[in-house]
Amino acid sequence: MRKTIVFLALALIATPASAQQDLRGHGGPVRALAIAPDGVRAISGSFDQSAILWALDRGRALAILRAHDGSVNAVLALPGGRFVTGGEDGRVVLWRTGEDKPLRVGKPHDAPVAALAANADGTLLASAAWDGEASIIETDSGREVRRLVAHKGNVNAIAFLSGGAVATASYDATARLWPADGSTPKTVEFDSPLNALAALPDGRFAVGAADGSVRLVSADGRETGKVEASQSPITALAASPDGRALAAASPRGSVALIDVASLRVTKTLTGPGLPVWSLAYAPDGRTLFTGGGDRLVRRWDARTGEHLGAVVAERPADDFAGLGALATTRGAEVYRACAVCHTLHPDDENRAGPTLHRIFGRKAGAAPGYNYSEAFRKLEIVWTRETVSRLFEIGPQAYTPGTKMPEQTVNDPEDRAALMDFLEAATSR
Ligand code: HEC
Repeated sequence: MRKTIVFLALALIATPASAQQDLRGHGGPVRALAIAPDGVRAISGSFDQSAILWALDRGRALAILRAHDGSVNAVLALPGGRFVTGGEDGRVVLWRTGEDKPLRVGKPHDAPVAALAANADGTLLASAAWDGEASIIETDSGREVRRLVAHKGNVNAIAFLSGGAVATASYDATARLWPADGSTPKTVEFDSPLNALAALPDGRFAVGAADGSVRLVSADGRETGKVEASQSPITALAASPDGRALAAASPRGSVALIDVASLRVTKTLTGPGLPVWSLAYAPDGRTLFTGGGDRLVRRWDARTGEHLGAVVAERPADDFAGLGALATTRGAEVYRACAVCHTLHPDDENRAGPTLHRIFGRKAGAAPGYNYSEAFRKLEIVWTRETVSRLFEIGPQAYTPGTKMPEQTVNDPEDRAALMDFLEAATSR
C-alpha cells in the first residue's frame, strides 16, 4: 500500500502539467476531502503539504492551511465551523473557519496519520496512523483519552460507529471494534489487507480491501457481505448520509457506486479527474465530491454518476465585471487559474491569497489586512512584470521558498506575457 502510493505519487509528478488554464487550487493530488455539515464549506488535503478551505457555492478558496511537514493525508469537518487535518508528519491539527493559524497542533503519532474521525457531536477526535496505533483525544483540550493498540500493521482507516464504538481497519487484514466502555476490542479477520472504512448510520460499517472488494460488517463484528468493486486496491470509501449507497475508489480504476441493500455496483463514474484519491458525500446525499490526481476537486451526481464539473467556477464572471474587452483576452483566460485565490479589487472579500490590486510597484507582502506567511513577509522583492513573470516561470516553491501559495507555473512565455498585460491593466483601475 505504501509502495503503491509512493509509486503513484511519483508517476503523477512526472506527468507534464496539462492545460494551464485549468482551474486548480492544489499543487499535488487531492489526498483527502471532507464537506462541512452546512454543505457549503469543504476542506481538501493534498500531497502538496497544504489543506485548502473552500466555499463550494462560489468555487472559491477561502484559506490555505499550512501546518504539516509532509502530505496532508486526512481531513475532517467538525460541527460549528472547525476543521481538522492529519499529516504524514504524525501531527493532528485543529483549525477554525476565518483563521489561517491553527487553534492547536498535536502530534499523537510518530508515523504518518492515515485517517481521522470524530464522534457525532465532535467532542472526540480519533486518528489512525502507520505506527499501528490509533489515538482518541478530546477535541477541545487535546488530551488523549484512549490509545488503541492491537493492530500488527499500518492502521489505514478509522470511524466512530453510531453506537459509540470505534472501528479501525488495518493493513494487517483485520478490522477491530473498540467498545465505547473501553473493554477489549473484537477482531474481524479478512483475507486481504484493508485500506478504507466507512460507517453506516445503522451501526454497521464497510471496509475497502486491497483485493478490490468492499465488505459489510455488522455492528457486532461479523462480515455479512462482499462486493467486487474494482480490479485494484480500494483506497477510498464513503457512505451516503442515508447509508443506502457506498462510493469506492481505487488509484488504478474508477469510482464504483454500490447499492448497500443488494451489494451491487450500480454505476461507475467515468469522466475527468481519475484516478480518484478521496471521496465525500454532500450532507444532502445528492452530490458526491472527488479529489483526484489532476489536483482538482470535482462534483458528481451521486445517483446517476454524471460528472457535474470542477468545484472552482468555470468562468469567474463576477471578477471580470467592468473589465470590458479585457475580459476576453488571452491574459484573462490565463488569469482564471489565479481567480480561485485572488481578487483584482481592493475591497473584495478575502480569498486564500491577497488582493492583487495595484500589484505592480508594490513590495511583496504588503496588501493591507492579509495574513502573509513568515517567508513572504521577509521577502525583499518589489513586484514588477519581470518578478511576477519569474515567479510563475520557476514556480512559487523555488522563487519564494516557504510560501503559502501552492506550487504552480505558467510554462508558455507567451501566456506569461499575456498574463502580465492583463494584470497591468486589470489591477490598476
Ligand atoms: C490556491 C491559491 C492560489 C492560487 C491559485 C494563486 N495564488 Fe498567488 N498567492 C496565494 C497566496 C496564499 C499568497 C500569499 C503567499 C504567502 O503569504 O506565503 C499568494 C501571493 C501572490 C503574489 C504576491 C502578492 C503580494 O502581496 O506580495 C502574487 C503576485 C500572486 N500570488 C500572483 C498569483 C498569480 C498571477 C496567480 C495565477 C497564475 C496566482 N497567484 C495563483 C495563493 C494563490
